[in-house]
Amino acid sequence: MEYKILKLDVKENIAAVTISRPKDLNALNTRFFNEMDQMVAELTARDDVKVIVITGEGKAFVAGADIKEMTDMTQSQGSEFSRLGQNTFRGLEQCEKPVIAAINGFALGGGLELALGCDFRIASSKAKFGQPEVTLGLTPGYAGTQRLPRLIGSGNALFLLLTTEMIGAEEALRMGLVQRVVEPEKLMPTVFGFAKAIAAKGPKAVQKVKKCVRRGIETDFEKGSAIESEEFGSLFGNEGREGMKAFLEKRKPNW
Ligand code: CAA
Repeated sequence: MEYKILKLDVKENIAAVTISRPKDLNALNTRFFNEMDQMVAELTARDDVKVIVITGEGKAFVAGADIKEMTDMTQSQGSEFSRLGQNTFRGLEQCEKPVIAAINGFALGGGLELALGCDFRIASSKAKFGQPEVTLGLTPGYAGTQRLPRLIGSGNALFLLLTTEMIGAEEALRMGLVQRVVEPEKLMPTVFGFAKAIAAKGPKAVQKVKKCVRRGIETDFEKGSAIESEEFGSLFGNEGREGMKAFLEKRKPNW
């Protein structure tokens, strides 16, 4: 499938994916989910890509699911549209490469849910966050009711979900919803800086850290620790040996 909504730019092992439907504030439609699924599969398979960055074109990161597409859906079509988005965002979570959300503007409803499916979030000081679904007589549909309380606690999550208050980037930072806030012109340089730092680390170690954390938060402590021991051990004799030898020999590792 040809990409019509997503733009891709790969440089220095970092894939920047830009959602580009600015006239509709990058609202998420069926085509977006199909393109994103294909993009994640393509970037997972590419050896020259180590980190993925997702951002939006124009004044929005994403202003939510596409209300124009959803309005006349039946109940079963609504559930199907929810599962479609849930699967795509699960795909980001399960993608072995780190995915960073560069939040340039509005991240509302499904847009915030997209950001929650990424591994961490860096925001422009102009970004705005909210879960306005109940205003439309809807619940979130892309696992926002599940990821948001796990990330920021049920009190903060229910506050956002029930009041639908749109919060600014500094408040999002205080809630732990985003990890850094920077001036708009510094957003992409800052995100690329973090992405490059990650891309310089042991690539298998990076992927395994993501896997341990992602699987760990969905299981109990003992099982999570067992996954960690297995992944830790799997790095010995190869990437881990090279990283430790490089440290002792005071040189850069040759991954
Ligand atoms: N779906 C479809 N189109 C959208 C949209 C959305 N979620 N958000 C904005 N647009 C469209 C507008 O309809 C408008 O299109 P037209 O020019 O054809 O009228 C265009 O984008 C520009 O939007 P505005 O004129 O409204 O821009 P603004 O700057 O005045 O306001 C905004 C910006 C506050 C983000 C406002 O657009 C807004 O409130 N958008 C809707 C946000 C929302 O409710 N999101 C949740 C959607 S439901 C959801 O996401 C469910 C789920 O979890 C699965």
